[in-house]
Amino acid sequence: MSTTALIVAAGRGERLGSETPKQYLDLDGQSLLTRVINGFAAHPSISAITVVIDPSHRGLYDAAVATVAETAGLQAPVTGGDSRQASVLAGLEALAQTGGTERVLIHDAARPFFDGALIDRVLSALQSAPAAIPALPVTDSLHRANGDGTLDHPVDRIGLHRAQTPQGFDFAAILDAHRRFHDAATTDDAALAHLAGLPVKLVDGDVRNAKITTQADLEDAKRLAGRGTPAAMVRVGSGFDVHRFGDAPGPLRLGGIDIDHPVGLRGHSDADVALHAITDALLGAIAGGDIGEHFPPSDNAWQDADSARFLHHAADMVRACNGHINHVDLTIICEAPKIGPHRQAMRQRIAELLELEETAVSVKATTTERLGFTGRGEGIAAQATATVSL
Ligand code: CTP
Ligand code: MG
Repeated sequence: MSTTALIVAAGRGERLGSETPKQYLDLDGQSLLTRVINGFAAHPSISAITVVIDPSHRGLYDAAVATVAETAGLQAPVTGGDSRQASVLAGLEALAQTGGTERVLIHDAARPFFDGALIDRVLSALQSAPAAIPALPVTDSLHRANGDGTLDHPVDRIGLHRAQTPQGFDFAAILDAHRRFHDAATTDDAALAHLAGLPVKLVDGDVRNAKITTQADLEDAKRLAGRGTPAAMVRVGSGFDVHRFGDAPGPLRLGGIDIDHPVGLRGHSDADVALHAITDALLGAIAGGDIGEHFPPSDNAWQDADSARFLHHAADMVRACNGHINHVDLTIICEAPKIGPHRQAMRQRIAELLELEETAVSVKATTTERLGFTGRGEGIAAQATATVSL
């Protein structure tokens, strides 16, 4: 029997009030909509998935489905309407146009925490009824309030239920109900099924399957989403490098920028000792070898190379390990040039190369009180640490 998941995602999320509509917000690495689509795709009884969207969100939609597997059965999105009810009707009409389906599960994109067992309960109830919805008995006391915020009268909660989605229906029956009662203002599809005289079965809902409506709901959802994944492992890598001053005149390439200085550093590449130290720190954090292993000085390809390439390569390796660079901290050790005037430009350049916020890049400098090779002005040393979450 064919079952299509119809996901309504054409709302603006006004009560939540974020700039990006709530269904496209990120929840622990995936948008709500992506989670919902993947949730249906993972269920063996779902043959196709159609999402109803606001066409002005098309870019957000495309990004949300970019990672969805081809095998998910995702169909082209459908344009929604001004109300949830209008959006559902638009979705049902589109399904009818493309040949229909025997059963449909209508679901809010704003409920990312349903599971396969909940889908099973709805589908199983649909075997003996044209409509089935997950619902939870109301457990709080209920009171109707007056307009002035005082209690008017208590309401008996016995028998009252909170309806959730996915709500399951015989396709032809719910399409007919939506068409006939499109003028009735309802908040879910079960209400329309009821208006049309269909018996609606209640199955056990799930408290976790809450609809994200307000900021507080979103905060709860973030906590719930985070709980499923183990805390990221944080690794710290360190790097150290030295280059001697050469005979060639400046400028001096240091920290990704050119500094006006009488002499440059000597090396096979552009000899940017600072970027080399950061590159090694990144490689260290993922136990990915060292810069000499990846870019051997014996290989002429790296002659006079811009060290930005080495840094890029290390950053790509971190990403390939599912890593995220949290922070880099660089210390340049020399008597001259003075680093202070160039510190901000270096931070900017390194942040740009690593695609980090500038606040995640620290550039410091010190002298060695004229002691040792740096003190005698024979070269520059640099050390760096990188913090990476895996
Ligand atoms: N929805 C829809 N089309 C609309 C309105 C709502 O497809 N015109 C969808 C929403 O995207 C959401 C679901 O219906 O997935 C439930 O609606 P609700 O929680 O009210 O979402 P919004 O309407 O987006 O939020 P708000 O009412 O706060 O603006
Ligand atoms: Mg709404």
